[in-house]
Amino acid sequence: MNVQALPIGVFDSGLGGLSVLRSLRAMLPAEDVLYYADSAHCPYGLRTPEEILHRSATITSTLVQRGAKLIIVACNTATSVALQELRGRFGLPIVGLVPAVKPAVAATRSGRIGVLATPRTACGETLAELIRRHEDGAEVFTVAAPGLADLVEAGYTVGPEVEVALRPLLDPLVTSGVDTLVLGCTHYPFLRDAIRDLVGPDITVIDSGEAIARRTRDVLATCDGLRPGSRPGNLELLTSGGPKTVGAVASRLLGEPVVASHLLV
Ligand code: DGL
Repeated sequence: MNVQALPIGVFDSGLGGLSVLRSLRAMLPAEDVLYYADSAHCPYGLRTPEEILHRSATITSTLVQRGAKLIIVACNTATSVALQELRGRFGLPIVGLVPAVKPAVAATRSGRIGVLATPRTACGETLAELIRRHEDGAEVFTVAAPGLADLVEAGYTVGPEVEVALRPLLDPLVTSGVDTLVLGCTHYPFLRDAIRDLVGPDITVIDSGEAIARRTRDVLATCDGLRPGSRPGNLELLTSGGPKTVGAVASRLLGEPVVASHLLV
């Protein structure tokens, strides 16, 4: 079988992982992508670890059955709960996503970093361990942000609703003197403009999209799995939610027409 021609499987609780897809396409434009948006179970940030693990394993199994050559868990929350277990269960490369604490520590000048994440990621051991490993004397302020992913799922990326949700989360970080802000959820890069407007130009805003695209490229290169040629890759979008709404919001987020198909797994 020609592995190179197979798609990359990507999943998230919803459409946040499309921010990772953008970076992936910029770096690997020829790759086909099979994306599963678990919109019927979004947000993961308020679910139990058992539920998140069950959903992640079921979706990974579906993507594998449909021929994925590599899986990207395009969700910090699912990565923190399920990555190790998925790697143990499935015999293909699985790339996960952690908040960009390490690059933030390298970038900070004030020694103060903010991390915005879902409640599950914010209180999880994965983030605590990541911070312990990389803080190198920096002070890290973690803020749990319930509700932000839902705004993006509903298609809101700028405007009064977004500002009202963001302000109480960001103001204390600005007051604390952070100069680097980590977007610890894949939905949040879609709020980047609104975040920038509130924190101002002196705070560097970092996400993990490009690092994940690079990691994916390196892993595929190692197993000779990169798709050659210049034909632009296809995006197939599957969702457990309503395909009309999910397709419409995905189109808005990516700035191009996207059709979603319903698949409940
Ligand atoms: N996009 C997800 C993440 O990166 C989760 C959002 C949610 O479902 O709570 O954490």
